[in-house]
Amino acid sequence: GLRLVRSIDEWRQLQRSGELAAARVGLVPTMGALHAGHLRLVEMAREASDVVVASVFVNPKQFNKADDLARYPRTLEEDAAKLAAAGVDLLFAPSAGEMYPEEEGSPQPFVDVSGFDLLPEARHRPGHFRGVATVVTKLLNILQPSTVYFGQKDGLQCVLARRLVAGLNFDTEVVVGDTVREPDGLAMSSRNVHLSQEEREAAPLVYTALLKLTEAHKAGERSPAALRACAAAVIASEPRMALEYVSLAAADDGRELEKLGGAGAVMASIAVQLGETRLIDNVLLP
Ligand code: PAJ
Repeated sequence: GLRLVRSIDEWRQLQRSGELAAARVGLVPTMGALHAGHLRLVEMAREASDVVVASVFVNPKQFNKADDLARYPRTLEEDAAKLAAAGVDLLFAPSAGEMYPEEEGSPQPFVDVSGFDLLPEARHRPGHFRGVATVVTKLLNILQPSTVYFGQKDGLQCVLARRLVAGLNFDTEVVVGDTVREPDGLAMSSRNVHLSQEEREAAPLVYTALLKLTEAHKAGERSPAALRACAAAVIASEPRMALEYVSLAAADDGRELEKLGGAGAVMASIAVQLGETRLIDNVLLP
């Protein structure tokens, strides 16, 4: 069955008991409100690990908008049932006070992957990536997994996780799972529950725009400006959608590309605001 662990002390006791010794521990970090995208990562972890750990923690430090944090769905009971059914062994679900006991305003550490602040996604979400880097560092230090799983849906987060683990020498392997989509192409996300019916109908256009861009690339278009314009035109056809950016970045380090045609893989990503909800999606160009 699924064992719920709510405190860092309890986890450390479990670790000292030797129960996890020599086990390959696979970790799937989440903020809960679980959907098939999260569960696909759990499945990957299940296949490759002796012990599967999921974490559910809505990390306040990675939210740059108070209302986004306040209305983030919290469904721990349903999440625990889904994780149990998926064969997860341990659920680490600490409180905010457990993870961040420091008093507001008092000195405290954070982890920053330099350069990320300059990327388009980071400019629209100031402080977001440093919040993610800090919580992922804490989770890796506490749980000490052999492997940690991330979804391509959050493409830059995958880049960040790889850089963090390599750069700070965590003894953990990073594995990335493909983006899981609804039948109409919309990338699954915990925030999709906020979409009105009209917005939900418009939402798949983000993926349509990425496919349009991919097609143009396949047909030989190599001008980043032209490729961006081609995706932007699709988004512009939906008056409810406001485009934040179309990005063409190096898939290994997230840096924006001024020209294409180099050796490395390219990640095309889009962010839009749709009503009150922000949507992001990306594809890797072949
Ligand atoms: P959350 O948004 O809950 O996502 C948890 C993991 O599931 C992330 O690795 C994310 O990329 C992946 N995921 C989400 N939607 C997906 C989809 N449609 N297909 C495939 N994978 C998907 O991302 C976070 O939480 C947080 O930033 C976290 C890493 C837990 C740190 O707080």
